[in-house]
Amino acid sequence: MLNVDNIVVSVRNGPDIVRGVSFRIEPGEILGLVGESGSGKSMTSLALMGLLPPALHLSAGSITQDGADVTHLAPHERVRRKCGKMAMVFQEPMTSLNPVLRIAEQIEEAVRVHDPDTDASPRARELLDMVRIPDTAHQMRSFPHELSGGMRQRVMIAIALACRPQVLIADEPTTALDVTVQLQVLGLIRDLCNRLDMGVLFITHDLGVVAQLADRVAVMYAGSLVENADVEPLFRAPLHPYTGALMACLPNPESDDAVMATISGSAPRPGAIPPGCPFSPRCSRAQQPCLSGPVPCARGVAGQTAMCHFPLNESVLA
Ligand SMILES: Nc1ncnc2c1ncn2[C@@H]1O[C@H](COP(=O)(O)OP(=O)(O)O)[C@@H](O)[C@H]1O
Ligand SMILES: [Mg+2]
Repeated sequence: MLNVDNIVVSVRNGPDIVRGVSFRIEPGEILGLVGESGSGKSMTSLALMGLLPPALHLSAGSITQDGADVTHLAPHERVRRKCGKMAMVFQEPMTSLNPVLRIAEQIEEAVRVHDPDTDASPRARELLDMVRIPDTAHQMRSFPHELSGGMRQRVMIAIALACRPQVLIADEPTTALDVTVQLQVLGLIRDLCNRLDMGVLFITHDLGVVAQLADRVAVMYAGSLVENADVEPLFRAPLHPYTGALMACLPNPESDDAVMATISGSAPRPGAIPPGCPFSPRCSRAQQPCLSGPVPCARGVAGQTAMCHFPLNESVLA
């Protein structure tokens, strides 16, 4: 229902930051977008929302939602035309909530924008119930600073749901939360996705979170998607060496190693991305063909794809 086709996000008169990214998200499905910090995850999501900062622009590709082309539609145009209904939740709710307005006023304001004919107060109550905030009457009268981090993130999700989005984009929504609270918020997102038959783009640098939550995974490196797969085959047998290296970095409680694995080197900056495979300078499998020219797409038997000359786990290649 959301179809992202080969989008490129560029700095005006500068390098490309997102370099031809494509994916689909179906209703009721969670796509986990994972990659190191700086790989272009947030700029991909802002491009989908029509919210790129002024220094950046969507220079190629298309975004369609429910058959409507929303590629260059600003958020207010989407509200007016009643198409491209997406909403976004960010890492730090305090930067999105207004510190001097009570929770009720902030949710009701969102309701008035999207449902002008609805009575805002009961609808706000209903939204808070949907995100399982206990004692809604009391919480509605609170100011943001009176709530815990987890509760604030639930309020942000409630505000996001006010537009009845077909797609919810969550950009590292649990990164700032304690592990137990993180689990509750992940459970809530899964539950909302199922109940509202809503697509979710869940962005994280944490492969462990993706394993718990996502149906499908897209792995991003230096502005490109290097691997796409259903979650189960991805964790059983990754094809791309970068995905494999990320998995090797996950903490393993059964291992006796005192030192955690890391990927040597660092990700290239936009404008300094090497020719050929962008991961080749850090890849232990890289050979001559990886250093220049186009990279082929390797396909696995479970429908997984990876941009790689020499994929891992050859036994699962189609
Ligand atoms: N306004 C901007 N002007 C120039 N470069 C930017 C701007 N915003 C972000 N970038 C660059 O875009 C790249 C991707 O950023 P981002 O999407 O935020 O990464 P991620 O969310 O994966 O950590 C980074 O290298 C960052 O430095
Ligand atoms: Mg980010």
